[in-house]
Amino acid sequence: MKVTVLYGGQSAEHDISILSAFNIISSLIRSNYQVDPIYIQRDGIWLKGAEINDFLDNADELKLNISSENVTYVDLAELANEKNIVFPVLHGPNGEDGTIQGFLEVLNLPYVGCGVSASANGMDKIVSKHLFSQADLPQLPYVAFTKHDWENNQEEYIQKCEGSLLYPLFVKPANMGSSVGISRVDNSHELTEAVEKALKFDRRIVVEQGITADECEVAVLGNSDVNISVVGRLVKMTDFYDYEEKYINNTVEMEVPANLPSEVVSSIQEYAYRAYKVIDGTGLARVDFFVTNNNDIYINEINTMPGFTEFSMYPVLWQATGIDERDLIEELIQLGLKHYEAKQNLWQE
Ligand SMILES: Nc1ncnc2c1ncn2[C@@H]1O[C@H](COP(=O)(O)OP(=O)(O)O)[C@@H](O)[C@H]1O
Ligand SMILES: [Mg+2]
Repeated sequence: MKVTVLYGGQSAEHDISILSAFNIISSLIRSNYQVDPIYIQRDGIWLKGAEINDFLDNADELKLNISSENVTYVDLAELANEKNIVFPVLHGPNGEDGTIQGFLEVLNLPYVGCGVSASANGMDKIVSKHLFSQADLPQLPYVAFTKHDWENNQEEYIQKCEGSLLYPLFVKPANMGSSVGISRVDNSHELTEAVEKALKFDRRIVVEQGITADECEVAVLGNSDVNISVVGRLVKMTDFYDYEEKYINNTVEMEVPANLPSEVVSSIQEYAYRAYKVIDGTGLARVDFFVTNNNDIYINEINTMPGFTEFSMYPVLWQATGIDERDLIEELIQLGLKHYEAKQNLWQE
């Protein structure tokens, strides 16, 4: 069987996507799949590479260059004809947010992971908060507003934030990822600057109560029947993981499984299940939480295409739960195919 792997992309997580794709392709080759690579350059141009039938030496081989051919409409039509499953190994905007998923739906192709609405709603920090509250999940207090709100009533929104939230606050664009555009602020001057900065990335903003807590993560796998992994904890070396800390300095260490009381672990797992169901997740997701010293738990976010590098939490959590990476990826392919078949069987006019 053949798998088309889509990777790279225009988001800040371009390089992570290449490392994730390298790891996933290695597992696919180990399971005797053939892989058609499609690389999305930073400028948005899609390039197709030669079919991969053997292990690659390193991830750099996936950075296809000028000599590779552009993906054309004919290629896409061929893809649509062959009905090979697509693995969109893309993180962040235009990859994890339902846009690529919608494109694959239009081509009527099976693909791995969450569908259009789950991807879009999981990515959107404001919509996902509304859904989380619908599912009775504990979350930190926040204020959300648009660029238009801010431009017309800046004072009112500062007062709203300061009236209902305690510094430090976290200011976030609603749709980004990788900490891009996010700031931690301690006073109204910094708050104003941070909002202006976040508005460069999105027209919708969320300002959130800051908390001193550990960050714990749990992996979800499945369509209707769902498996939940053990819980992992990020061992803190800084109080805010910005892009540089996460991906360049590599100051994040993982404790898997997290050393937490069993009732805290069960609550986190139950919340992860509810978060996955309320966004209508299929395939996979990683759900992230804050856990305080007193073991208060708050959901932070759900990631529908989590990092998949050899150091990433998602595969590490499954390894610790007893599913090795090769089986994990095989299962993701099967879940994508099953979801596609179930949709094909729906009544069509
Ligand atoms: N309310 C908060 N309190 C404390 N730390 C936070 C808060 N919100 C975010 N952070 C820190 O910022 C990081 C990035 O924020 P997050 O909401 O996870 O955005 P992203 O989608 O970019 O991963 C988190 O991993 C955490 O370290
Ligand atoms: Mg995060």
